[in-house]
Amino acid sequence: MDQRSIGFLDSGLGGISVLSEALRQLPDENYIYFGDTLNAPYGDKDPQEVFRLTHQAVDKLIAMDCKAIVIACNTATSCAAGQLRQELSLPIIGLEPALKPASLLPGEGKILVMATHNTLRLPKFQALMQLYGKDALPVPCPGLMECVERGQLEGEEVDHLLRSILSPFLNEPVKAVVLGCTHYPFLRRAIARFFPENVPLIDGNAGAIRQLKRRLTEENLLGNHPFGGSVTFLSSSEDEAAVRRMQSMLRG
Ligand code: DGL
Repeated sequence: MDQRSIGFLDSGLGGISVLSEALRQLPDENYIYFGDTLNAPYGDKDPQEVFRLTHQAVDKLIAMDCKAIVIACNTATSCAAGQLRQELSLPIIGLEPALKPASLLPGEGKILVMATHNTLRLPKFQALMQLYGKDALPVPCPGLMECVERGQLEGEEVDHLLRSILSPFLNEPVKAVVLGCTHYPFLRRAIARFFPENVPLIDGNAGAIRQLKRRLTEENLLGNHPFGGSVTFLSSSEDEAAVRRMQSMLRG
């Protein structure tokens, strides 16, 4: 039993989609969520810089006595998770585009993998493509995380941007869509409109939290706060409005 907090980080609001799943699967834990709003977005930054920023965020969460870290960002995971696991002994859980489960689905058609430019071009995703990418088409989505950060989850502007991103990929049948950035589950409704109803939109959130639960169990680190856990939000811009946006995103 360990009552310390679990640390979450992302460039902004995206990781809250992962945090919601954690609250569902592990409701008796305390959480600290750090959004690096000052340095967002991570998707087009130099990977070395994303590594530095991720390391800085992890150090901050460790200084706050976190017992485990969830890098609730596909981009930061691609840039930093491997190296951080070599350096640190606490559990570090990352996110990756859910291409494996998508590739195991029955049916014909392409798998569209929506993610940031960095996630799609770095070796971690290239390795995933080698194993499960036979039918996959990488779809970089510039500008999409910014819609979520602005609170634009539906509407004309979002539709217009999604049309420009997705239309080159809509000429062939699509079997599944992978939401390979933790911001995109917040746009699920807007994205789903571009596909027939039976096309699943898959994210990696439930799998990542199952992995977190497994690691906490194995290492005897599970918490048990009797009246349910708490969530503390922090933002690198130290701006109260950013923290309020995080709170309202979690409430949904
Ligand atoms: N939420 C992040 C991800 O999962 C990245 C968004 C960004 O900072 O570009 O990749």
